[in-house]
Amino acid sequence: MINVGVLGYGTVGSGVVDIIRDNNGIISGRIGDEIRTKYVLDLRDFPGDPVEEILVHDFEIIKNDPEVHIVVETMGGLHPAYEFVKACLEAGKSVCTSNKALVADFGPELIQTAKDHNASFLFEASVGGGIPIIRPLQSSLNPDEIEEISGILNGTTNYILTEMTQKGSDFDSVLKEAQALGYAEADPTADVEGHDACRKIAILTSLAYGKNLDFHDIYTEGITKITDRDIAYANALQAKVKIFGSSKKIGDQVSAMVAPVMIDAANPLYSVDGVFNAILVKGNMVGDVMFYGQGAGKLATASAVVSDVMEAAIHMDKPAGVQWTDEKFSLVPFADSKSRFFVRVSGTAADNAAKVKEAFGAVKEVDAGFADEYAFVTEEITEGAYEKAAETLGNVLNKIRVAFA
Ligand code: HSE
Repeated sequence: MINVGVLGYGTVGSGVVDIIRDNNGIISGRIGDEIRTKYVLDLRDFPGDPVEEILVHDFEIIKNDPEVHIVVETMGGLHPAYEFVKACLEAGKSVCTSNKALVADFGPELIQTAKDHNASFLFEASVGGGIPIIRPLQSSLNPDEIEEISGILNGTTNYILTEMTQKGSDFDSVLKEAQALGYAEADPTADVEGHDACRKIAILTSLAYGKNLDFHDIYTEGITKITDRDIAYANALQAKVKIFGSSKKIGDQVSAMVAPVMIDAANPLYSVDGVFNAILVKGNMVGDVMFYGQGAGKLATASAVVSDVMEAAIHMDKPAGVQWTDEKFSLVPFADSKSRFFVRVSGTAADNAAKVKEAFGAVKEVDAGFADEYAFVTEEITEGAYEKAAETLGNVLNKIRVAFA
């Protein structure tokens, strides 16, 4: 019998309990042993919920029970999640978590703790919710050098940008609508400012190369400055605005960024709309591989957690090591990263054309029917060169990186 303890009976934790109960026959059959949830830890009571029978309020009960082999951490937040997870690993229990903040902050340390105690520390659900991406990066794509990762890693912002594109609405009204529908949090900062996607691309990049990409070091730009006019220009270019978490291997270094980007229909991520997430991975042998699915939601995310529970159960005697050390990446300085830029400046074409040419060199003009501003796409230039030219002009309204020729 494999006994599981679940820390946190929120959306994902209750989904884990549901899946272990409802798919018990399938899961037990596949791991070759019976599985059950022995305890659920939560501060709250749940009168009338069957979980009452296994509900505990004291973490020590789970930590000290030698019958508990695997602990699921679905509490969220850093503390006490970190202390609980560390204590479980030190007690030789495997831990499966959906907590991206915990993984982004403490990944290498907890992986090492797991190794030291012959346990597994697994976190498939921390990136892309129900989309299998962590294990494929660690196993199926093992023979490859990963050259590039680009992902639509946040459902809230993809929903907002999709609605803005399809309805021509402005950011604020779509955000309010998304909040009313439960697609955006009451405090949407982590999503709309790109912080959530930043942690996710840091985790994926670290796993792809086995070194630690600290999310604090990643340039991160959210979608709050994207306006309905930007979307109208994207339409004129037959493009869509998406927010990507991306990283790329350049020589011995890696460049990484979270930012809105214009993509055209040739990009496999172009048709990923609404709350869906997708991750495009380029391997030097396999080529482009795309992973698509629900990046959030109770059962999708819980399914990924339970897949980790099964992985831990199958490898109880010999946990598979996750390659992610605390050796730091050498990052390409942000100012040296290259891109094409879509730029809008205030004033008419007559006011701007010559000055823009002088500052940016040859550009391609974009007309979306707004007489009071002038828009163009630059050649590929560095971030540093963009900043310098934009400063010289002094009348930039907005810029979006462009990922097509
Ligand atoms: N807030 C996240 C999103 C949930 O919108 O994608 C999953 O991390």
